[in-house]
This record gives sequence, structure tokens and C-alpha cells, in this order.
Amino acid sequence: MNFLLNRHIPNYPLLTFKQIISLVRAPKPTGRFTSNIKLLSNTRSAIKIWIQENLYIQDRIYIPSYICSDLTIPLTEMGQSITYYPCKANLEPDWEWLENNITNDGKALLLVHYFGFPNNIEYAVQFANHHQIILLEDCAHSFLTKVQDKIIGTFGAAGFYSYHKLLPIPEGAGIYDKRTSDATIQNYLDQNNQIKTLEWAKRLLIVIIHKLYMPTLVWFLLSHSYNQIIPSYIYKPSSRISPLSKKILYTYGQHFDDVVAHRRHNYELLANELTDIEGCTVLFPELDDGVCPYAFPLLVEDPDKYISLLNNQGVPAQKWPDLPEAVRNDSIFSMSTNYASRLILLPIHQTISIRTIYKIARAVKSTNLFIRTI
Ligand SMILES: Cc1ncc(COP(=O)(O)O)c(C=O)c1O
Repeated sequence: MNFLLNRHIPNYPLLTFKQIISLVRAPKPTGRFTSNIKLLSNTRSAIKIWIQENLYIQDRIYIPSYICSDLTIPLTEMGQSITYYPCKANLEPDWEWLENNITNDGKALLLVHYFGFPNNIEYAVQFANHHQIILLEDCAHSFLTKVQDKIIGTFGAAGFYSYHKLLPIPEGAGIYDKRTSDATIQNYLDQNNQIKTLEWAKRLLIVIIHKLYMPTLVWFLLSHSYNQIIPSYIYKPSSRISPLSKKILYTYGQHFDDVVAHRRHNYELLANELTDIEGCTVLFPELDDGVCPYAFPLLVEDPDKYISLLNNQGVPAQKWPDLPEAVRNDSIFSMSTNYASRLILLPIHQTISIRTIYKIARAVKSTNLFIRTI
């Protein structure tokens, strides 16, 4: 019963009361968020819109096998030709496999920068140029990451960002793209203008619950999804970013350096604590310059047990991803299926204090010890 009284660690960043007050005072956002960026609500629809606008249905797009089905289901449903490619242990594309399997109808390659860590963009650019295919960068986890001082997502033909994954907003995504006009995106958004105000009410309730030191029990009662670091949705149609999320995105822009520094610091502390633990492997032990981590990926042997024991201690942890059906039973994707069954994500976001990071580390260590001794 003790676990029910633990204070729960939020799975995503929360607004502080100070930020809420300064938001009320902030002027209405005007102008562009960043040059060549078009704003909308989520990344999966941003990618779908871009593909609908720039490719024919029969044009093949190469998508990594280590990917969430949330992203691929809308593409499969519209009949897009997709080939999944295998990934290596560091989540880089298996270039040799791609080299041998690329076909004449191959028109685009989607490269994912997982968990805030840049994938091998230099090689990807060379590969795309050599094969005359379009390089698309999925930066859903990594909009604050830079490679050699250049913003990730600006190396290929288009980059897709999920602002809502790193900031305290329930929706917000961006397409970096020089060829698609604002009017084109507008046209898609005009067809669907659903803004879920309920999401905002839920967020504000969470801020209050957190500030009131409500224990894990309350979070459990509210919803199971509060343990999800990467929330999964059945389907989210494309829609506009809500005015409130837009305001936060614009005002938060002045604090991006602090967000990066906080996340990096949390990540480094956790990496120090969790390296060299028997039965656990830190997927990315090093933080290169420019990296803004999204979450902390850890490979373990019995993830379901870890997740249940960690959740009971108030630590949101989850497995990722739920793979597309075409990938799940194919042995060439063994690396992806192995990671999907063993990788757990831990939170390191900007609402988490140093004290809480040590609490997470202690919870992982005690869970590890418990699992190894039973
Ligand atoms: C790699 C990757 N790309 C894209 C998406 C879709 O992001 P959004 O939730 O903004 O639609 C996700 C969602 O989890 C993801 O993990």
C-alpha cells in the first residue's frame, strides 16, 4: 500500500504557476515561429500531409522498422507504398540493406532522430543524393537538437517537429519545408478544425494535482495514460494548433536554452547513476554537444516487470514503440522487435528536479535488484 502514497512524477513537463501568470500577460503571438516552419497540431498528420502533397501513392517511401504504428497507420490507410528498412544496434538505418533493396519506385527516405539523439544525418544526406531520393527527417523527439550548430530537421527536404513532446502543451507540431506553401497546409487544416479544449482543462488539473502533492493513487484513478511518456493515440486528424498552445510555444521560445540545459543535466545524472548496472544497458551513454534528450532509453530483460514496479513507485516508465504489423513478425527486423520488447523510457524533462532524478535512479536500482533476486 505504501506505493499509493508516493508523490507521482509527471510523465511530461508541466507549466509552473509563474509561467501561467506570465502567459496571461504575454501579447498575442504574431509573425512566424521560425522561418520556413508551418504550424499544426501533431507530427503524424504533418508527415501525412507532406506525403499527400509531394508524392504519388505509388511512390515508395522507406520507413525505419523501429517506428510507432501511430505514424504508419494513416499512411497505410491512404494506400502509400511503404518499405520498412532494418535498423542497426545504434538505431542507424542498415545502409547496406537499403543499398541492396532500393528500387526504381523508391522516392523518399524517412530518417528518425530517436529520443533527441541525431541519427547519422551526414551519411543520410550522401545516401539520398547518391540515390536521388528525397530525405525526410522525423524530429518528433528532437526539435531542440542541433548538429554542428545547425538545427536538426533542416538537412533534408523537410523536417517534422513535435513541440508538444518537449513543452507543456497538449498539441503543437511544425513542418520545416521550403517547397510546400502556407496556403497548401492551410487548405488541409481548413478541412478539419478540431481543437480539443478538454486537453487543456486536463493539463491544468494535472498542474494543480502535482502542486498539491497528490500521491500516485490519484494519478492511477485519473487515468492509466499518466504513465505514458510518449502517449499513443488511435488516430488524430490534422488540425490547427490551439491559440493557447501557440502562445506558450512563442513565449517559451525565450527559454529554450534553459530547457536544453535542464534536460541535458538530468540525462547526464541519470546516465551516471545507471551505467554499469548488471542487466541494464543505457542505449546512449554519451551526450554529444547540441543534443537535447527527450527521454532516457534503457534496455532491460523483463520490461513489463520493470514498468509495473516503477509505476508503483510513482515513476512513469513505458515500453516504446508499438511496432507496425508488417514489422512485428519478420525476422529481418529482429533488432527492432528486440528493442521494442526490451526498451523502457524514463522521464528526464524540465519539470523534474535533481532530487527526483536521484529518486528515479534509486527506484530503477532497487527494481533491478528485486528482479534479479526473485
Ligand atoms: C518517431 C515519432 N515520429 C512521429 C510521431 C508522431 O508524433 P505526434 O504525436 O506529434 O503525432 C511519434 C509519436 O510518438 C514518434 O515517436
